[in-house]
Amino acid sequence: MDLSRNFKGRSFITLKDYTPEEILYLLDLAAELKAKKKQGITGDSLKGKNIALIFEKPSTRTRCAFTVAAADEGGNPTYLAGNEIQLGHKESIEDTARVLGRMFDGIEFRGFKQEHVEALEKYSNVPVWNGLTDEYHPTQILADLLTMREHFGRLKGLKFVYLGDGRNNMANSLMIGCSKVGVDFAIIAPESLWPTERLIGLCKGYAGESGSTITVTDDADAVKDADVLYTDVWASMGEEDKAAERIALLKPYQVNTELMKKTGKESTIFMHCLPAVKGKEVTEDVFESEASVVFDEAENRLHTIKAVMVATLGQ
Ligand code: CP
Ligand code: NVA
Repeated sequence: MDLSRNFKGRSFITLKDYTPEEILYLLDLAAELKAKKKQGITGDSLKGKNIALIFEKPSTRTRCAFTVAAADEGGNPTYLAGNEIQLGHKESIEDTARVLGRMFDGIEFRGFKQEHVEALEKYSNVPVWNGLTDEYHPTQILADLLTMREHFGRLKGLKFVYLGDGRNNMANSLMIGCSKVGVDFAIIAPESLWPTERLIGLCKGYAGESGSTITVTDDADAVKDADVLYTDVWASMGEEDKAAERIALLKPYQVNTELMKKTGKESTIFMHCLPAVKGKEVTEDVFESEASVVFDEAENRLHTIKAVMVATLGQ
């Protein structure tokens, strides 16, 4: 079945809105666009399209990926720093959405509230892409899944373990993405940092359909047999005041050489969405080791974000 028609005009707010087939379609499209780019072939699928990039929080990878991907496909990206536009100071999200929707063909939003990216979608009448909120970071998950598929040649049946802040945007989105595509997913974190019961329940439903499993535990020995160990910063953007408390809470969950060995598999890879705080959630030696695929993940942000824009807005 040709899925390409399913995407036109749609937003990309959370992976909950996408079927496993649609997620795999985006990975295939990203792989195709990546192979073309390696041969020096870019496209014109976004020719004449103006794209707004709103960033209330800092970014290197996401901002650069949207900018380069848009340019590669002939689109025109405009960066809008959160503190330099009226949004949040003089103007509501609803009014901002209606103004931007009159001028732009697509809008990327990185910020704090998930409700804001949802309001942009509701009021702008153009595709809106979530570049990270406190709750979700869905474009990162596409890059992570593409990286895993490139490395292992498959996704189904892989054993994925996330350690650290188990209720942040990365943990939430990874749990949704992995459970949808059939990757066995575990979160290892202290109980106070587990995801909500509601999201766990939802993802258990996805896992039931894809034939995978969801495990949430505080026992670091659960890394046994893992194909992937994944971690993220212990204090996310906007939670800087929690750093000291999190260090105390999460020290036992650091990804270090000893923990990598505990998987019992020499083939286990290390993943991180970046930026990383070396010496905290991951040691420098694991980060720099052969097992680390973090820069493949970073590059894949470009190809997967391009796939999302081409699928939803491209001609
Ligand atoms: N992984 C990620 O989103 O990186 P940036 O914060 O640099 O965009
Ligand atoms: N959880 C991190 C992810 C950064 C890409 C944060 O929100 O800061």
